[in-house]
Amino acid sequence: MKTLASYPFFFLCCGLAWSELKTVRRCLREKVIIFPEQATKNYVQLHANDTMDFPGITVCLLFSLATPSEANDFTISLSPINLYKLQVHGTSSEFNGLPFKLNRWNSVCATWNSVSGFAQVFVDEVPSVQKAVAVKNAFKGDSKVVLGQNLAFTGFITDVHVYKEVLTPRLIKNFMEAKIKFKLGDYINWRNLKHTVAGSASVEPRQHVTFYTNQEEN
Ligand SMILES: *[C@@H]1O[C@H](CO)[C@@H](O)[C@H](O)[C@H]1NC(C)=O
Repeated sequence: MKTLASYPFFFLCCGLAWSELKTVRRCLREKVIIFPEQATKNYVQLHANDTMDFPGITVCLLFSLATPSEANDFTISLSPINLYKLQVHGTSSEFNGLPFKLNRWNSVCATWNSVSGFAQVFVDEVPSVQKAVAVKNAFKGDSKVVLGQNLAFTGFITDVHVYKEVLTPRLIKNFMEAKIKFKLGDYINWRNLKHTVAGSASVEPRQHVTFYTNQEEN
């Protein structure tokens, strides 16, 4: 009887897991992903069309953080004293002296060039120094792009774009000023994004959750 009784539970679990992990392709313009609680089961996986084969990378996104926390081929995180930390191929480097605002949108771009090994982080149009990070291996092979999970993040993320090259400061400035014609990601494009939402992370319209922000990001 015991084993029989446990079947429906098992079935329910699986049914739920299946319906929760739905992968869709959408334009997420004016949408934000909300991470309401800090837990690794809540994440959003972004699916790129291609495997990686590029000598440099730029990742841009806007985030608003409620709780900073710790966060591996390429990771942008905030360490406890509000240092931006970039991990490339498992080696990390900290960038200090950059702006950070709790409960406000922070616009961040991180670049890394595998030829020079130099990384740079831009936050709200303030560029860091260029730092040599890690080994000089280009990004190759399958990618797993995840928002939230390892960062165990609570807050909002929007406008995630990943480029197969190091963008010029001018193009980064266009992204940060949300210029009408800023360059959309050619590896991950927020406006045409195949993604899977897991746990309590959810995609919501941006206007309903951005009443904290000032005008600058629109
Ligand atoms: C990925 O493929 C889809 C469908 O072919 C296309 O519409 C989209 O623009 C591609 N995404 C990127 C980032 O190139």
